[in-house]
Amino acid sequence: MTLATVQTAIELNGVFKEYTIDATRVEALRGVSLKISEGSMVAVTGKSGAGKSTLLHIIGTLDRPTTGEVFVNGVDVSSMNDRALSQFRNRSIGFVFQMNNLLPEFTAVENVMMPGIIAGHSRSALRERAKTLLAAVGLAGRLEHKPGELSGGEQQRVTIARALMMAPPLLVADEPTGNLDRKTSLMIQDLLIDLVRSNGMTLLLVTHDLELAARLPSQIVMEDGLVARDGVTH
Ligand SMILES: Nc1ncnc2c1ncn2[C@@H]1O[C@H](COP(=O)(O)OP(=O)(O)OP(=O)(O)O)[C@@H](O)[C@H]1O
Ligand SMILES: [Mg+2]
Repeated sequence: MTLATVQTAIELNGVFKEYTIDATRVEALRGVSLKISEGSMVAVTGKSGAGKSTLLHIIGTLDRPTTGEVFVNGVDVSSMNDRALSQFRNRSIGFVFQMNNLLPEFTAVENVMMPGIIAGHSRSALRERAKTLLAAVGLAGRLEHKPGELSGGEQQRVTIARALMMAPPLLVADEPTGNLDRKTSLMIQDLLIDLVRSNGMTLLLVTHDLELAARLPSQIVMEDGLVARDGVTH
């Protein structure tokens, strides 16, 4: 019998992040160390300003730590150059943020194709996959709509489809349902959780919604730039 080894999806060692604007220095992260296994679904909660988005941006490789090590899927992303990093990000990490960052000039199907276009894949194959993903999020009837022609919940579903385009092992979400009414929010939450689970992805989700946080199997609470409570690493 072979035992499957659980791999570490995310590892942070002594991560500090300082921002200096004029004479004001903010320590957004003050020495965060954590380990998250592959396939975990982790909610990150904590007060406004606690460092949640900063943590997510650093794990998502959108920002670099001032000091400390960051490993994503075993890769030391803190030592990669910008070019290698953007390629890694494109292939390995899906993003769903409150401000969905869809490109307003492009249709739903084109927005979903975008990570694949950046990776240089063939357009016809991408279009087919984008249509399948949009159908999976219930938008088969909105393929040619531009973001401005879609409701907030529909836009967020396009964002989820786009995040899945490259089948990344890691999905990071920052207040993904923050702008939506309760009914739509619950629908998007169900969709996100189902897709992450069925694709065996790792999910890191920042939220102020404690009900949503409680739906995920693991929780991290941030306080003042530190992990105050860690229900993941022991
Ligand atoms: N780009 C930046 N430049 C300067 N300071 C920043 C920057 N981004 C964040 N900060 C500061 O770092 C601290 C942590 O910010 P962060 O956005 O991580 O908080 P958060 O926990 O996500 O809060 P919220 O729940 O309000 O979104 C805050 O005090 C903020 O002012
Ligand atoms: Mg935030």
